[in-house]
Amino acid sequence: MSAARPGLLCAALLLSACSGEQSVLAPAGRDAEVLATLFWWMLGGAVVLWLLMNGLFFYVTRIRPQALSPRAAEALIIGGGIVFPTVVLAALLSFALSEMPKQREPGENLTVRITGESWWWRVDYLPEGSDTPIASANELRLPTGQRSELKLNASEVIHSFWIPALGGKTDMIPGRETRMSLEPTVPGDYRGQCAEFCGESHALMALAGVVMTPDDFAAWLEKQAAPAALPTSAEALRGLAVFNAEGCGGCHAVRGTEAAGTVGPDLTHLGGRVTLAAGILPMERDALIRWIRDPGALKPGARMPGYDHLSDAELSALATYLEGLE
Ligand code: CUA
Repeated sequence: MSAARPGLLCAALLLSACSGEQSVLAPAGRDAEVLATLFWWMLGGAVVLWLLMNGLFFYVTRIRPQALSPRAAEALIIGGGIVFPTVVLAALLSFALSEMPKQREPGENLTVRITGESWWWRVDYLPEGSDTPIASANELRLPTGQRSELKLNASEVIHSFWIPALGGKTDMIPGRETRMSLEPTVPGDYRGQCAEFCGESHALMALAGVVMTPDDFAAWLEKQAAPAALPTSAEALRGLAVFNAEGCGGCHAVRGTEAAGTVGPDLTHLGGRVTLAAGILPMERDALIRWIRDPGALKPGARMPGYDHLSDAELSALATYLEGLE
């Protein structure tokens, strides 16, 4: 590798970290905007300080190396060593403290309960006035124009919920509910990632964050609350038969059918999600087949057993059925 390569690689990594669907510096929510603003101000301040300090070193070593008068030295220590940092740190602290109440504000109209599982996310929507949760998984959809409340839990070990484009991160702790609220501003698809080491597939515990306009969100939530669509094609019906024969409903729920398991993700509207297996695969039939055949190969330690005893035709039918659950 030539000497220029590592430098180019670093530059590319640094630049690509500033944009894209999983960046704190490409904010799409009010809280993330505050964090990004704070970051740029602190970075700017650090650059100015670095230039000042190095300028000062250069001045006293190269331009004017003579000793300062005791009076000037004292002024430099008091001014540069006490007054200046006190003013700068007090300003930063007041800005940060003034932001905290806003970020801690409770959400309104919509509460979403998110539970960290091994290694996926259980997501239950609780619209205001409803006490029946609408179950989903591995995807958090939120409307713009309001602050939504998130109630965070964990089933076995500590996880950390984080969608960088929307806001900060919050730990999910077994036996103790934590909370946060988010106020997305720009519709789009974003990516979240578990931010606390939680086991062998921690790095494969991602989450899709989908921000929608209020009207689109209301329509989506209404559809999400409905039971699963009945399979129409012969292939999908064969897939449903495989699903039942293999006992998939023992772990997974498909509302409106006999499948009512709660160990694994709710599959009622699986086909309508943007990703599969907690953000690691696209929601496509080939990915569904690969996942069902051998989940452990794609996500080490995954609790779902492999179904490699199924024939290609059976797997294909199963994928067709699941894909149709939109
Ligand atoms: Cu869940 Cu790391």
